[in-house]
Amino acid sequence: MKVLVTGGMGYIGSHTCVQMIEEGIEPVIVDNLCNSKEAVLTRIHELTGVTPVFYQGDIRDRELLARIFNEHRIGSVIHFAGLKAVGESVEKPLEYYDNNVHGTLVLVDAMKTAGVTSLVFSSSATVYGDPDIMPITESTATGQVTNPYGRSKFMVEECLRDIQLAIPEFSITLLRYFNPVGAHPSGKMGEDPQGIPNNLMPFIAQVAVGRREYLSVFGDDYPTPDGTGVRDYIHVMDLADGHIAALKSVGETAGLHIFNLGTGQGSSVLEMVGAFSEACGYEIAFQICPRRAGDIAECWADTQKANELLGWKARFTVSEMAQDTWRWQSNNPQGY
Ligand code: NAD
Ligand code: WQD
Repeated sequence: MKVLVTGGMGYIGSHTCVQMIEEGIEPVIVDNLCNSKEAVLTRIHELTGVTPVFYQGDIRDRELLARIFNEHRIGSVIHFAGLKAVGESVEKPLEYYDNNVHGTLVLVDAMKTAGVTSLVFSSSATVYGDPDIMPITESTATGQVTNPYGRSKFMVEECLRDIQLAIPEFSITLLRYFNPVGAHPSGKMGEDPQGIPNNLMPFIAQVAVGRREYLSVFGDDYPTPDGTGVRDYIHVMDLADGHIAALKSVGETAGLHIFNLGTGQGSSVLEMVGAFSEACGYEIAFQICPRRAGDIAECWADTQKANELLGWKARFTVSEMAQDTWRWQSNNPQGY
């Protein structure tokens, strides 16, 4: 089966392409390289022996999408393409709504025209906002989001819900990722943020490799066991496998399917620092700083629905997440 992978050159998309190829699924990638590099294709080839078909272009380009659907018999679409930096989205809401919301509408319209009715969408635990009760289930309320990035994910979810109601033959799967971290265990593929990393793990990794002096720990006065923020970190390889499980189990079943992809375990910032120090063999320098605006104290997933209905369960431990991130970062100190 051929699957169109939008944003397939990015962090999560590239790892998913590798796993798809391992499973005999043929990815066709469209990516405008606004946050990724062409070198990713070479790494996919090194890992799998296959160079996927790659179209460099934008998902908002209707003609390009029509051409891709015309040139390939696409069975499903996995839609990763989008902008994802929370802080930047506050500065540039227009770009975020245009890319994430309008881009998805153009994509779904092209799918409709081409008669492709299976879509897996990269959503985020951010759509849940700051719920009172942990763990978060798929029926926890959504929409109380605090920034344009999160709102764009919530808006896309709502658009897709309406589209599926209006075109009932569509199979639409919303995968709400918790905190993706880690890298391919080979050390050849990983996260390569441009500029100063926004997220915890890539920041720690850059401290470890000497690109940053120390980690700022954003707050140690949260109501959590050690006072630092708690998140459900999930290895990117587990996340990649979650997409394949979703494609196989519900990708051909008409309806709207919603799943949390997390491990069900929360870890604090200091626990992540400790795991990384163990992986790289020396202490990660950090300073306790004020809380970051918009952060919540804790967030972790109830994964029962994905475990039961997708037959999927995250396998990697926090220690493996740190080891694989370190292998990638130390082999590729400047990224790709
Ligand atoms: P990424 O930036 O590494 O990958 C996104 C890819 O999409 C990049 O290669 C970029 O060049 C491409 N792209 C962006 N806009 C495009 C457009 N208009 N047309 C074509 N290509 C375009 O990000 P990622 O971490 O791999 O995230 C993938 C998806 O998962 C995103 O939709 C993101 O919002 C979502 N997500 C990510 C996280 C996370 O923490 N990484 C968490 C939850 C959800
Ligand atoms: C994790 C913890 C920070 C950096 C974000 C998005 C979310 C999703 C995943 C896309 C928090 C602390 C961080 C640092 C720190 N993305 N931290 N020092 O905020 O849970 O989620 O990425 O959908 O939408 O909001 O992830 O990695 O930024 O932070 O102390 O330099 O690490 O305060 O407790 P977050 P994160």
